[in-house]
Amino acid sequence: MLKSLYLQNFRNYQQLEFKPDNDFLILTGANGTGKSNLLESIFYLGTGYSFRQVKDDHLVRFGADYFLIRGVVNNNGIDYQIEFCYNQEQRKKITKINNKNALPGSCASYLPVVIFSPLDLMLVKGGPAERRRFLDLVVGQLRPQHIKDLHNYNNILIQRNKQLRFENISDDQLLPWDQQLVTVGSMIWKRRVIVLSQLLGRSAEVFKSLSEGRELAGKYKSQICDLKKDDDLEQCKLLFSEAIKKTRPHDRRVKATTVGPHRDDFALYINQREGRLYASQGEQRLISLALKIGQYHLLSQQDYLEPLLLLDDVFSELDAQHKLFVLKGMKQGSQVIATTTTPFKDGVVGKKSLTDDIIMVYRKIF
Ligand SMILES: Nc1ncnc2c1ncn2[C@@H]1O[C@H](COP(=O)(O)OP(=O)(O)OP(=O)(O)O)[C@@H](O)[C@H]1O
Ligand SMILES: [Mg+2]
Repeated sequence: MLKSLYLQNFRNYQQLEFKPDNDFLILTGANGTGKSNLLESIFYLGTGYSFRQVKDDHLVRFGADYFLIRGVVNNNGIDYQIEFCYNQEQRKKITKINNKNALPGSCASYLPVVIFSPLDLMLVKGGPAERRRFLDLVVGQLRPQHIKDLHNYNNILIQRNKQLRFENISDDQLLPWDQQLVTVGSMIWKRRVIVLSQLLGRSAEVFKSLSEGRELAGKYKSQICDLKKDDDLEQCKLLFSEAIKKTRPHDRRVKATTVGPHRDDFALYINQREGRLYASQGEQRLISLALKIGQYHLLSQQDYLEPLLLLDDVFSELDAQHKLFVLKGMKQGSQVIATTTTPFKDGVVGKKSLTDDIIMVYRKIF
């Protein structure tokens, strides 16, 4: 859970100290007062990036040259301090966990966040990169090693692509990069296939209840082949290794690595028809909601993880039945931070000012 947050020059906040102090907290304020910005900084603390798919430069307060996000989180009874500092001029981000340098994504298992926002629709409608990012986040929240592997994989990929830019680069020269890519890439591939299948298992149950019995299914899409979740790692390596050998001539021509987990995707189907192509706007929203509830269930099922739920403006979008469904599935005592523009009546709930424009409303809902 998030115990405290400190911001400097993040979006509209020159400086902010925030202590949630409660399991269920609602931030109310008019449009444009900074509610989503605050959730954005909390999401960042648990992922190392913005849920709005913008660059770090956009997060720096207008006129400033850096932002700082620092938070104390508690996981399994232990406090950790997570810190991000981004310097715009140097385009450099420093991530620290308990004052030691760390990879940005490594915060994922310390503060496992699940966000519900109107942008979730992009999981269905958007491109493969958005789906990969979501899947990698869930995998990283469950298996911290995944973050390190992704980091290594990307470095190897950059090196291999650099080699491919040389004319007449030989197979022998590419081989060491290919081998490393295969070793790390296979672990990423296999982990994604396993976690996607667990996630979809839960999301399909949720979808069924939300949509009067309709089937949600999904499939990991790799150009190499359809991996089964029971295929062993050696098998993955073999398949990847053969694929990369086969595409070497093509890779040389286009001067880029064209197979591997960095090009993968997953598809979602309602009653066997692909959601991205055929589902209505409302159905697409239900699919993304089911995926997020599935993520929350998957995380909260692990004894060692306490997911933090961030609800950005979504409660106004959901009807009463869906609202109840989201809340009913929540683990008792889970931390929730929600935003809304709807003001609350005095006396009904506890209130406290966060800024001149935002009020924190404490609710007991269980
Ligand atoms: N880099 C930045 N520097 C300074 N201000 C910014 C920056 N980026 C965004 N803002 C401002 O922050 C303000 C608050 O944005 P935010 O999205 O948090 O509003 P909100 O309270 O969620 O509103 P709504 O209810 O409409 O969703 C906006 O008016 C925007 O102009
Ligand atoms: Mg908002």
